[in-house]
Amino acid sequence: MVEGGHISIPDTGWSEQDSADFIAYGPEFTPEGERLRETVLSLLAPVIADSETPYIVELCCGAGQLSAAILERFSNTRMTALDGSPAMLAETQANCAAHADRLDAKLFNLAESDWREVNLKPTAFVSSLAVHHLDGPQKQRLFQYLYRALNPGGVFVLVDIVLPTTPVGLEIAAKQWEETVRAQSITKHGDLRALDAFKRLEWNFFLAPDADPIDKPSSLADQCIWMRESGFEAVDVSFCLAGHAILSGLKPDAERR
Ligand SMILES: C[S@@+](CC[C@H](N)C(=O)[O-])C[C@H]1O[C@@H](n2cnc3c(N)ncnc32)[C@H](O)[C@@H]1O
Repeated sequence: MVEGGHISIPDTGWSEQDSADFIAYGPEFTPEGERLRETVLSLLAPVIADSETPYIVELCCGAGQLSAAILERFSNTRMTALDGSPAMLAETQANCAAHADRLDAKLFNLAESDWREVNLKPTAFVSSLAVHHLDGPQKQRLFQYLYRALNPGGVFVLVDIVLPTTPVGLEIAAKQWEETVRAQSITKHGDLRALDAFKRLEWNFFLAPDADPIDKPSSLADQCIWMRESGFEAVDVSFCLAGHAILSGLKPDAERR
């Protein structure tokens, strides 16, 4: 884990300009962001209720909306929020200021292994819209690490874009994503400024899946299989819209069997 300072994350291609764009328009670019967060909170609730000292690690926290929602909802929970972007971490600290005493926000590089050497043993790992920056084998290694590192009885909740397996699936995801951004732009701004930015920034991965090597989503089915192969049980999908899905899996608690 990197303590302070600036790290670039060139191996993924994510830049501080991407952070600035996502800080400006991420809420409108994210299909049903509130429903996504509420679903993650629902998946965390039983595991947190079972823990005397709940501790959650968020990978690639971005501007910190999910961390803030977790800290707000679960008042006994401590969190570590990790991201590779200094600008994003500053947003996280600002958005979680009311719960700063329970939050540790740190720089890291998801693709590196140094942060995995720390013995975290969290109650849950969560990640939203970032693991698709890893390729398939990197995702498999990440899932294996997360399973090992979780406390028994813990949960891994993954929100991410998923790769449709057919051309028509890509068309559906692209269309649904644009429709949700259009609707969210009108709701928030009364005009199409967020949709215009979405198009100008060519953010809709599903329109040109090979255009930018920064995005390497895997199919929903592959990721369910990789979670099962890593040891996770009760692997499930709780949301899927516009190519965005929520997957989760439990690490069984042998003592409770
Ligand atoms: C699309 S944003 C999602 C942010 C937030 N999780 C959300 O759902 O709103 C992707 C985030 O992943 C971070 N990121 C991308 N690649 C990374 C890497 N290799 N290591 C650390 N952070 C990374 C970016 O800095 C950014 O905050």
